[in-house]
Amino acid sequence: MAYLLSQENFAKMSEYIYRKSGIFLEEDKHYEKLAKYIDTRCKVLNFDNFRKYFFRLRFEDKEGLEFQELMNAVTVNETYFFREKDQFEVLVNTILPELHRALPASRPIRILSSPCSTGEEPYSIVLHIVEEGRVVEQRDIEIVGIDIDSTVIKKAQVAKYNDRSVHAIPKNVLAKWFDKRNLGYELSKDLQGSVDFQVVNVFDKAQMRKLGKFDVIFSRNMLIYFDDASRKEVAMTFYDMLNPGGFVLLGHAEYMSRIVSVFKARKIDNTLIYQK
Ligand SMILES: C[S@@+](CC[C@H](N)C(=O)[O-])C[C@H]1O[C@@H](n2cnc3c(N)ncnc32)[C@H](O)[C@@H]1O
Repeated sequence: MAYLLSQENFAKMSEYIYRKSGIFLEEDKHYEKLAKYIDTRCKVLNFDNFRKYFFRLRFEDKEGLEFQELMNAVTVNETYFFREKDQFEVLVNTILPELHRALPASRPIRILSSPCSTGEEPYSIVLHIVEEGRVVEQRDIEIVGIDIDSTVIKKAQVAKYNDRSVHAIPKNVLAKWFDKRNLGYELSKDLQGSVDFQVVNVFDKAQMRKLGKFDVIFSRNMLIYFDDASRKEVAMTFYDMLNPGGFVLLGHAEYMSRIVSVFKARKIDNTLIYQK
């Protein structure tokens, strides 16, 4: 069956997606998925060719709804609780105590999870903080979770998870902070309001600026989908959003030293963290 999206137009679409979101789609891996998606959207919109769709996307999408649909379709949202767990331990054992000692007592510590996907990462931060207990008893900690995909942000706000999502949470922590439901686990209502979730594109400077300044930024397993120029742009955005002395944590396969040289690398218990 022929798709409405030709190989030539795949190049136009992937260039557009890359420019707007940093997500880099390769023809041999992603053509079929994107072509099926365009066929589905054209059917919904009653368009009989790709050109009409592409025109709508670029020039008739004032509220960004078509772009949002597209982003929801092309993102890879893989995540689970306590993924790369050593970083959460470094957060509660080293980073938060250091920040607590250094910052004026009245001001909250602010943590950004960018991207947060369906919420497992920022909620893992919350779970580590409440389980560890020391800093949170003495000062406010604000946690913001952002993602370009609006469907994952909705799921994060509902905070209901399946077995796969929670498999790495120790049994006692799971029993304490989740209610077992027929089809999975719901995060305790006490913790559900603990993260401020927002749909934000990391390349949208105005949206990012509105979030304010942070002391810690988790950015794990997103930069791997970008090329070098986009990684650099996002790393510098994070640099600008961090307070002096603030920290960045990347995924295990991501190295700041290969992206920009403005951060100091520190190794704590075999975990690499980066400091402004
Ligand atoms: C693989 S998930 C990583 C989630 C979590 N940080 C983790 O490590 O488990 C990658 C997420 O990046 C998001 N993403 C991709 N491009 C983005 C952009 N330009 N702005 C914000 N989020 C983006 C995707 O929607 C997806 O949910």
